[in-house]
Amino acid sequence: METAKDFTFRYSEYSSIEELNDLEQKVAHASISAQGSSHSPYSNFRVGAAVLLANGEIVLGSNQENGAYPSGLCAERVALFGAATRYPDQRIAMLAVSASHQGRLIETPVPPCGGCRQVMLEYRTKHGASFPVIMVGARRIVKLDMESLLPFSFTSASEV
Ligand code: THU
Repeated sequence: METAKDFTFRYSEYSSIEELNDLEQKVAHASISAQGSSHSPYSNFRVGAAVLLANGEIVLGSNQENGAYPSGLCAERVALFGAATRYPDQRIAMLAVSASHQGRLIETPVPPCGGCRQVMLEYRTKHGASFPVIMVGARRIVKLDMESLLPFSFTSASEV
């Protein structure tokens, strides 16, 4: 018998960074500063990510493109892998992502790609705690829980 079910999730929306709390603002601004190291000569789309860890450290990442296209990596994964390498025991407390094109912050939030969501889930599972993701746009900012980004997700527990 077919059973139709609904899935809903909650997110918060803001119209400027100043509406976020102090810590969220700090991480959001860190994601913008991370864009400075973007290597994006092919897309000209400069993405910055900032990962706040439980110990208060903020680890930055930016998109790194490559002439052999698939060899590049998104800003979120650069930040997440960097954080996990430097502080393997620290839980992720927050992640912010933002992007610019032609020197201007993108107006709408840039949602992380599917691969980055899967990587976020890995660290959420490793440390046993989810975390908020803030997508920063110049006119609109969205905050939601990491788990809401990836319903019906694959984890190693899915294999059994
Ligand atoms: N990109 C990111 O860094 N993060 C995302 O969530 C989406 C896409 C990068 C990959 C590529 O360097 C550029 O944005 C254009 O797709």
